[in-house]
Amino acid sequence: MCGIIGYVGVDEVVPVVLDGLRRLEYRGYDSAGIAVVGAGEIRILRAAGKLRNLEQRAYHEPLHGTTGIGHTRWATHGAPTEANAHPQRDVSGAVAVVHNGILENYSDLRAELIEAGVDLTSDTDTELIAQLIGREKGPLPERVRAILPRLHGQYAVVAVFKDEPDVVVAFRQGPPLVIGIGEDEAIVASDVVALLHRTREVLFLDDNEIAVVRRDGIELLDSAGDHVERSTETLDWDAGRVEKGGYRHFMLKEIFEQPDAIRNTVVSHLDAARSGVILDGLGFDPEKMDKIRRVHLVACGTSWHASLVGKFLIEKLCGLPTDVDYASEYRYRSPLLRDDTLVIGVTQSGETADTLAAMSLAKSQGSLLGTVCNVRGSSAWREADATILTQAGPEIGVASTKAFTTQLVAMLLLALALRKHGGGADELDTELVHQLQTLPVAIEKTLSMERATFRRATEMLSGAPNSLFLGRGILYPIALEGALKLKEISYLHAEGYPAGEMKHGPIALLQDGFPVVSLALNTATREKLLGNLMEVRARGASVIAVAEADSKAVDEIADLVLPVPHVHPLLQPIVAVVPLQLLAYNVAVELGLDVDQPRNLAKSVTVE
Ligand code: M6R
Repeated sequence: MCGIIGYVGVDEVVPVVLDGLRRLEYRGYDSAGIAVVGAGEIRILRAAGKLRNLEQRAYHEPLHGTTGIGHTRWATHGAPTEANAHPQRDVSGAVAVVHNGILENYSDLRAELIEAGVDLTSDTDTELIAQLIGREKGPLPERVRAILPRLHGQYAVVAVFKDEPDVVVAFRQGPPLVIGIGEDEAIVASDVVALLHRTREVLFLDDNEIAVVRRDGIELLDSAGDHVERSTETLDWDAGRVEKGGYRHFMLKEIFEQPDAIRNTVVSHLDAARSGVILDGLGFDPEKMDKIRRVHLVACGTSWHASLVGKFLIEKLCGLPTDVDYASEYRYRSPLLRDDTLVIGVTQSGETADTLAAMSLAKSQGSLLGTVCNVRGSSAWREADATILTQAGPEIGVASTKAFTTQLVAMLLLALALRKHGGGADELDTELVHQLQTLPVAIEKTLSMERATFRRATEMLSGAPNSLFLGRGILYPIALEGALKLKEISYLHAEGYPAGEMKHGPIALLQDGFPVVSLALNTATREKLLGNLMEVRARGASVIAVAEADSKAVDEIADLVLPVPHVHPLLQPIVAVVPLQLLAYNVAVELGLDVDQPRNLAKSVTVE
């Protein structure tokens, strides 16, 4: 939520910051702003709406300087107006800040500042941070350090100062901040995607640390004001992966990147002979693993759907009872945690606030904590004892695609590793490892599906305000995921349901032409699912089925089949979701919607 950036260097700051904001716009797009330090003052430009509005202002009202900050907003406190856009500054114009997060003691601080006679100009909690810093006196890090105990809640803040034109200061509690160190320059950002094109040498700021960033070095302090030593890390992501590369949208590019993303994820977790899974070096302590008797998977959104598939896999392959929880529920429901419980936070970004809170709860209760995560260096990656890193590369489209399929792969790898550790591996494991390696080819086949097939499916869905997605067993989570994809980018209501439950309520929705999308692959319960689809047809509804290309029984019932190749039943979720991603994408494009930046959403939900 919200993209923030700060730059100090030798280049003109406005193009650098605008470029960074463009790369961060997926984190929020309600308003944007920039502040530049120079000629003894801080000058600010802000605009409501998308970044292009700010870019136009910056073109007509040029600002010059080599130090500055920028922000792209996902509104929390205050409407998405220009007055509430960041940067916000204090009354005297001494300091300007950009902020990602929420101050929980907003009302108290606001009342206190009004009482003290401060003339507030916005409804934001961010302005309060600027005002508090502006009222402090003394040397620079102290002015910031002094206010930290006053801030309750979540914040990542980057600030610039009128009297220190060659410095940006960054501090955080919760939402991420990364500092890139380049030649004669440094960039602070809420995500590495904003700085990858300038440097790959980075330093991740920890909670309660303050970074005083200059173009020739960084001073890190803890909350007591003591110096912290930390060396930089070199990122292995390639800058080209955060460009659209000829595709119309990031989402489409990311859908087509799935064969490679899956290939890389599989290969990075196989042994040298590529015949078995290894989790060596990932932090899974063998002694602690011996104790595992139960698994908890905690996640949000699409990652929660991947966890539901994970439950099937872990219970089937390892016989370990597995619970799946929404992280936002888990953290408040006093889960039964013991040292025989493996808790896995499943998160693409590694920065989702609820997932992180659920993970830290598990850690505090002594459970073995793992994460399935896509971002090396992220908060989840740093919090967990053990990490299975998905190799999807940067995912920019707000609707998650390649991160999801690589999470499904990671779930299978985890289940196989737990099974091997428990001594249960046999020829099924060899078969699954082999199938995982041929999976990218199966996905490629699905991606080459006839355009005409999609055109028809798109017509059927884009004209209907409601639709139902049905699946059973391991494909039920894929029905949920297909419905979520459609909802979030096309704004059409779609409900994912277990097919056997349809008769207990949703069947009342069915009428002539009502679209029902079903996962009708060859599973143990396909006959039952086909029975459910007959009931759908009997009520005049239309059936779109995802099924293997040669499924006669499905052809006879469905109005339209989206074909996928045959794969092992435990891998079916991975191939089955791809046509649903493409379907949602095509419907959103057909409706003329902003696929990569759907309304009200942000890529990383870093506030509760
Ligand atoms: O980064 P995370 O995997 O923790 O994010 C969780 C959800 O916010 C995310 O999956 C969200 O549901 C996506 N927009 C789905 O496409």
